[in-house]
Amino acid sequence: MHELLKRYSIVSDQIEPDELTVILRQLEVVLANNIAGDVVEFGCYEGTTSLFLQRILQRHNEKIATSIATKRMLHVYDSFAGLPLKSEKDRSPAGEQFKSGELRATKSQLIKHFKQAHLPLPIIHKAWFSQLINHDLPPVIAFAFFDGDFYESIKQSLQHVWPHISKGGIVVVDDYQSESLPGVRLAVDEWLRDHPAQICVEASLALLVKQ
Ligand SMILES: C[S@@+](CC[C@H](N)C(=O)[O-])C[C@H]1O[C@@H](n2cnc3c(N)ncnc32)[C@H](O)[C@@H]1O
Repeated sequence: MHELLKRYSIVSDQIEPDELTVILRQLEVVLANNIAGDVVEFGCYEGTTSLFLQRILQRHNEKIATSIATKRMLHVYDSFAGLPLKSEKDRSPAGEQFKSGELRATKSQLIKHFKQAHLPLPIIHKAWFSQLINHDLPPVIAFAFFDGDFYESIKQSLQHVWPHISKGGIVVVDDYQSESLPGVRLAVDEWLRDHPAQICVEASLALLVKQ
């Protein structure tokens, strides 16, 4: 288990400790390898994972404070209106509970969690992923976490983020192995047909390393 998980509690059931450990270790790999760019999370909900991403970045940014290296920012994206419409590609008897409007958190809840944790606020983008424009993305991205649950949400996350990912940068996609959310794997596998990346699977996560 990652050492931060022994010190801080997880604020919702939206991520398992073993998955969070994988996500945080991948972020640390990217930082240790000096891969250029900021960090983004598509589908931040109330900030369960974002809080831990920010803890890692805060520690990193403090360490480099006296060097010429640039600080890494965290950008988080969410509708704050819950899940969008479910498409046929997302249908699964195991996933009946995932419906339009489910998993709704407010922006205030997210901000409250960051304030309670005494962490700097991330840059918060309240929008449907389909409404984002290129200007809403940091120009260079080192690490991304996608947790949008549905086919279109993951496809749109890839379309927005992939062009900005540095060589050697990592995209972690939640629910790749989930029986309840089949659209996630479909979106990733389709993307990889035209966009070469090294893929490996850990727990239910897909880890994509840009070549
Ligand atoms: C499983 S929750 C994310 C959990 C979060 N990553 C965490 O660690 O707590 C999925 C989130 O994705 C958001 N979402 C899904 N599809 C979206 C879309 N197309 N546009 C904007 N937000 C979306 C939902 O509003 C919801 O907050």
